[in-house]
Amino acid sequence: ILVITLGSCLCAVGGIYTVIQTKARLTAEEWGENYFLVGPYVESNVRTQVELIEPTNPALKRAIDKMNSSGCKVYFGRWLIEGSPYVVLIDVAFTAWNLDKWKKELWDNFSIGVPWFDREANDAVLFGFLTAWLLGEVAQCEEPPHILAHFHEWLAGLGLALCRQRQLPVATIFTTHATLLGRYLCAGSVDFYNNLADFNVDKEAGDRQIYHRYCLERTAARCAHVFTTVSQITAVEAEHLLKRKPDIITPNGLNVKKFSAMHEFQNLHAQSKNRIQEFIRGHFYGHLDFNLDKCLFLFIAGRYEFSNKGADIFLEALARLNYLLRVNHSDVTVVAFFIMPARTNNFNVETLKGQAVRKQLWDTAQTVKERFGKKLYESLLVGQLPDVSKMLSKDDFTMMKRAIFATQRQCQPPICTHNMLEDSNDPILTCIRRIGLFNSSADRVKVIFHPEFLSSTSPLLPMDYEEFVRGCHLGVFPSYYEPWGYTPAECTVMGIPSISTNLSGFGCFMEEHIADPSAYGIYILDRRYRGVDESCNQLTSYLFQFCQQSRRARIIQRNRTERLSDLLDWRYLGRYYISARHMALAKAFPDTYFYQPHDSDTAQGFRYPRPASVPPSPSLSRHSSPRQSEAEEDDDRYDEDAEAEKDRLNIRQPLTLPSKKGPALPYTLPGANGEK
Ligand code: UDP
Ligand code: G6P
Ligand code: GLC
Repeated sequence: ILVITLGSCLCAVGGIYTVIQTKARLTAEEWGENYFLVGPYVESNVRTQVELIEPTNPALKRAIDKMNSSGCKVYFGRWLIEGSPYVVLIDVAFTAWNLDKWKKELWDNFSIGVPWFDREANDAVLFGFLTAWLLGEVAQCEEPPHILAHFHEWLAGLGLALCRQRQLPVATIFTTHATLLGRYLCAGSVDFYNNLADFNVDKEAGDRQIYHRYCLERTAARCAHVFTTVSQITAVEAEHLLKRKPDIITPNGLNVKKFSAMHEFQNLHAQSKNRIQEFIRGHFYGHLDFNLDKCLFLFIAGRYEFSNKGADIFLEALARLNYLLRVNHSDVTVVAFFIMPARTNNFNVETLKGQAVRKQLWDTAQTVKERFGKKLYESLLVGQLPDVSKMLSKDDFTMMKRAIFATQRQCQPPICTHNMLEDSNDPILTCIRRIGLFNSSADRVKVIFHPEFLSSTSPLLPMDYEEFVRGCHLGVFPSYYEPWGYTPAECTVMGIPSISTNLSGFGCFMEEHIADPSAYGIYILDRRYRGVDESCNQLTSYLFQFCQQSRRARIIQRNRTERLSDLLDWRYLGRYYISARHMALAKAFPDTYFYQPHDSDTAQGFRYPRPASVPPSPSLSRHSSPRQSEAEEDDDRYDEDAEAEKDRLNIRQPLTLPSKKGPALPYTLPGANGEK
């Protein structure tokens, strides 16, 4: 059997890329030399991430050679990520001369017309025909292997439809990570979840000028031997919008890093937090009138879909939190980061200057320290205690005064780190202007909008995303539309608490597997049965409660959060992919394979009870975040290991997963009050 994953590996960022990239290690371990990924060739990424080699598999080599001698450019290599899987990369632009011919074929066979101006859809057509060509060539060799092809998302879906139309001997799986229409409808002003069954899908897609894309997606979903999606909530959505109920749900996992020392992740938090603090020192130069040690870092990250991602209610809740912290004379300062890519013209001068000023102060301090040290040393060498009044010279003072003068600033610390191309229409900036969170000195909540994904080579905040998350205190993801939501899952495996919602795949999954999610630092906001204002109040109260926790409580909570990691590990969640593959092989090659769901596929599940250290009393159970007396406030010298062990004894009890064929779909849709 050849197992092939098709999708936008290597060339995208965001959740789908995370799925394909993290899943590769386990699949490569399982299928070894017989596992391949197929994606579009993007030169810049290939140069940095792929070792190009000769094809290893004879059938694949023959297919690639044949295509290359027929005017295509197909590359083969090892993708230099965990598991180093093989990749086949197809240069889509190189065969663009075929576009008209293939579009005609698409129209003749599927009645799908793709307009000339939709570049992404045109690329999807090219990629679809090229992948079907490749699979067709492999299937034609003398002793053809059984091919199992797993297509991800609509952009890769056409290849699947062509395989079926050409009756290639290929077992096909299609996984959708969201529906196109769902994403569009939610981003508008539609009460989505209450009207799921009633949408006139063709009209809605046509009105939004995505009819052809919608058709490509729906065709792939309908043609696949096995159709899967990433969560139950998206399964219900797919059933109504794509008109096919998924055969199995394949929740998204991660490759969990296990540390040998139990609390290494806590140390990593402290290290990364120091680096974020350094950035804050620069960003707020001249206005550092708050205690950095009492400063909490919150963040939201992901694709920039203002209301789908819940950035709207996060901002509103921050404004309310600002008020609460002020009237309660709290000494806590909150810095909320928005990491969402938008169109920009690079970093802005004021932000870069902030880091330069900080560096200058640091350099000045180092210079004075060195001179001071030298004098001290010389005085000790001659057996004298130093005369403190002579340790700093006039020049030293002048230099320090000049450095301090340089920190004067006429404006408030900036909200946005970049020059935005659409500054006046940008939804985050517009909302900030309306609610008035301008980083003024009186504000207890400060906001920083970084409209670009993070990178360790940035001159401003040189940290990669993982380091940044580790240094924060809380991830806030109050999404309205979120088929899965990797960001809170990534927080969890790094031991960082997060807020998600009961409209996100992740939130629902955690609710299903954990008796008291908030005790583990998994706060799940109700956006299903409450109106927006009510959800926003709930979010504000989560945030306010979080700000009231002591350092010790936060440490305990991080320990608990991190302990949920196994639940999100591909080593556990990979089983759903295995079932999907068995199912597809049995459907495509019924004479050779037989699929019967095994108890062993699903019986070894997780069910996390409340942590032992949370008091069982019902009155306290409502507030199950770790709390303790005033006397213990901010004491981080507690016996973490004893605490952790107490909880550990009480979890990891294998219980049964929802159903044999993967999770069932017991979905009740939002009640009457669930309007957006
Ligand atoms: N991410 C990233 N760099 C950043 C911020 C986010 O690589 O600076 C990644 C993050 O690791 C996550 C993905 O973006 O895997 C977002 O995925 P999610 O499923 O949460 O949402 P999507 O953006 O795909 O809708
Ligand atoms: C980790 C470190 C502690 C540090 C703490 C800060 O647990 O091991 O040494 O005190 O982080 O926690 P905080 O929530 O205040 O960032
Ligand atoms: C899509 C969804 C996101 C999900 C990701 C991976 O980007 O928007 O919620 O986590 O796919 O499945």
